Amino acid sequence: MAKKITRFVCADCGSEHSKWAGQCQDCSAWNTVVEFKEPRAAKNAKNGTSLAVYAGATEVVRKLSDVKLEDTPRFSTNNSEFDRVLGGGLCPGSVVLLAGTPGAGKSTLTLQTLCEVSHQVQSVYISAEESLNQIAMRAARLNLPTEHLHIAVESDVLAILAMIEKLQVKLVVIDSLQAMFHPDVQGASGGVSQLRECMQILTQYAKQNDVTLLVICHTTKDGSVAGPRVVEHIGDAMLMIEVLEGSRFRELRAQKNRFGSTNELGLLAMMPENGYLKAVTNPAAIFLNRSREPHPGSMVAALWEGSRSMLVEIQSLVVESNQGNPRRLAVGLDQNRLNMLVAILMRHGNLAMFDQELYVNLVGGLKTSDPSTDLPLILSMVSSFRDRAIPQDWMAFGEVGLSGEIRPVPSGLERINQAARQGFKYCVCPAGNASKSAPEGITVIPVETLIDALDKFEEI
Ligand code: TYD
Ligand code: MG
Repeated sequence: MAKKITRFVCADCGSEHSKWAGQCQDCSAWNTVVEFKEPRAAKNAKNGTSLAVYAGATEVVRKLSDVKLEDTPRFSTNNSEFDRVLGGGLCPGSVVLLAGTPGAGKSTLTLQTLCEVSHQVQSVYISAEESLNQIAMRAARLNLPTEHLHIAVESDVLAILAMIEKLQVKLVVIDSLQAMFHPDVQGASGGVSQLRECMQILTQYAKQNDVTLLVICHTTKDGSVAGPRVVEHIGDAMLMIEVLEGSRFRELRAQKNRFGSTNELGLLAMMPENGYLKAVTNPAAIFLNRSREPHPGSMVAALWEGSRSMLVEIQSLVVESNQGNPRRLAVGLDQNRLNMLVAILMRHGNLAMFDQELYVNLVGGLKTSDPSTDLPLILSMVSSFRDRAIPQDWMAFGEVGLSGEIRPVPSGLERINQAARQGFKYCVCPAGNASKSAPEGITVIPVETLIDALDKFEEI
């Protein structure tokens, strides 16, 4: 009898180890190495392997120039924001993971998509989390066309593959990966071995048969997929859907995308009447519902997300602290960047902020790492510090360097144009971005250094 080999894998990075260890040698994560049970079929395949078996392998080698270029035909999800984040729609044969916390809208978005495209693309929605009745109720509530969509409640991946084969469908939703199981693999659903094998067998089938798979995954509190990271590596794309705190908006971003950019931000609005997730096609100013009166500490920034600009308000509150180590808190903006900007303000702007508590917030629940928020953030902090409001028709963008210089950012003219369209009259921006072709109706105020920007603030 063949000796039973026990393997260990890291639940985080998926690397294999010959023995158990408290810390993974590859990714240094603690308590993530678990025993891995090999499926029976895989064990048998390993017996008696010799290179002779692979004698025909060279036949698959081609010259790169001999490969015929076929333009990958994509199909639309009927939701412009979903398409945008995917890179222009779904590619046949691709495996897309859709991850998010409970209630984010994963089941809603995928059911909507399938109902709306199933008259063109044969589709099936497979759920292991909800009953047929629940899915039907959801579809009725969302007012979706249901006559062409197949649905099934199943959690055995082999049964699912048999079903896909029989129905000859081309688009499949699996809700969710954590609820699936492979009958030949030991361990409970959601465990490392199950997730890995289920994902692998589904992906293999999708690639061989040109079936598009939308696989729903749950995430943990920190936003990573609940399970081994190897699941992310197997899929072609991994999209995250997140609720923007305190609003009805959801943001959709790609963490990985083999068929498009990972910079695009998709915005969806949940309709209050039935929970339908509608694409927000023009998000330029949706986060700009400001109060009528100008307040100290408020300034508008022009973010650049993927291929469009968005105007968002930044709020700051600067208050004197009676602690030796005053608090500095950033919500929606990078904490380290905030600390750096405070240091730049003290060193190059001669502002004594060392004894001030600081709270900054990107209004609307968005999160950004766009460095063009530096200049409006600094102006909003100075406005709060001086207790002087900036008029509401002013906005700014620009990166601030460590020596106090204001650095240009990409797509300056597009940001200025967007601000002009939204009725802003003054735009403080890096001299390198101040274009002569700026639209009428907006005055561009170029600044080269932090001192320049602070002088302009004093003149307002
Ligand atoms: P859902 O798509 O079920 O989220 P997920 O699959 O990611 O866990 O739910 C999305 C949102 O829809 C959730 O915030 C609550 C809302 N919702 C309703 O308003 N009514 C309903 O009957 C259901 C099921 C959900
Ligand atoms: Mg769900």
